[in-house]
Amino acid sequence: MSIVYDFKENIKNDELEKVACVINKGGIVVFPTETVYGIGADATNDEAVANIFKAKGRPQDNPLIVHISDMEMLEDVAADVNDVERKLMDKFWPGPLTIILKAKENLSSRVTAGLPTVGIRMPDNKIALSIIRASNKPIAAPSANVSGRPSGTRLEDIYDELKANVDVFVDGGQTDIGIESTVLKVDEDGIVNILRPGRISLEDITKLGLKARLDKHIFADVKEGEKVESPGMKHRHYAPSTKTILLEYDNNENYMFEKVKKFVTNNNQKKIGIVCFDEHKNTYESMGIKCITIGSKDNLSEISKAIFSTLRYIDTLDIDVCIIQGVKKEEVGTAIMNRLLRACEYNIL
Ligand code: TXA
Ligand code: MG
Repeated sequence: MSIVYDFKENIKNDELEKVACVINKGGIVVFPTETVYGIGADATNDEAVANIFKAKGRPQDNPLIVHISDMEMLEDVAADVNDVERKLMDKFWPGPLTIILKAKENLSSRVTAGLPTVGIRMPDNKIALSIIRASNKPIAAPSANVSGRPSGTRLEDIYDELKANVDVFVDGGQTDIGIESTVLKVDEDGIVNILRPGRISLEDITKLGLKARLDKHIFADVKEGEKVESPGMKHRHYAPSTKTILLEYDNNENYMFEKVKKFVTNNNQKKIGIVCFDEHKNTYESMGIKCITIGSKDNLSEISKAIFSTLRYIDTLDIDVCIIQGVKKEEVGTAIMNRLLRACEYNIL
């Protein structure tokens, strides 16, 4: 039986001590961060890290992110930090940014999946930081979900699929950002290569006076045998069991409405759902399809917060196929579209 501690209102010190104890003994803890929930263990303990892979059913070649609480802890896990990396840390830590750095040897080699590098981040969440501090260990934590499933942004979404292999769940309520951290690597030429987009956008990074680019696999599937910068790019991600199709954003709303109407006409035997903006609900309902609203079209933060629980919700509905409304590929919209393309397995309407 796993234990659940409720830290939604406040962090209870006696329970925090118990969580720290579980980490120090090599146990597994699910905890909130500002992005999504993590499933964590002591990053220096081989066996504990192996148990994270087991709990998620995660491919062994996909390395984990290591979470730290302060710059002193960074010294224990990573080496050779350059000026560009330092600048990114100064600006964005604590926060939703993972930087790929040279790994130090005291980390379990399972964390890095045998790579010479490791992804490090300092989360901007009181509960996560308190757990790292109380255990005084760097914590390896991938997103808390079974591999391939949408990431967990509320404890109730992930409890059942993980409970058999987790010692303690810490409930911090719904996570703020809702999509995982931006993962980047500073290349030898000093250019920031974004491997996974997140709340910290390309625009945020270039505003610092740094040069940055999006990796080519952010909007494209990996072809058989192709080399990737981040193992996570190769693996199937986020797809609901229900068939899903992405409706690309267009400034001309009527153009999107016509596309949906045509799809409805051509599939009149099927029960169709659509994940849509609040503003479009009436239009789609008048076409006779089931609407699941995701937020206002002008509020990308609201959409990013809701995206993963909405992807999970689709599977609870009695529908054959679900259209998902895309957003503009700018700011956090780039990250939302990266997740939606994968969730729809590159099916586009
Ligand atoms: O917001 C987040 O980043 C959440 C919370 C819990 O912190 N964590 C998370 O972890 O999303 P995960 O394991 O689901 O995603 C980590 C991604 C994977 O795509 C992995 O391939 C990539 O980071 N990654 C980790 N270490 C890497 C490395 N050394 N080189 C390249 N990519 C790496
Ligand atoms: Mg994940």
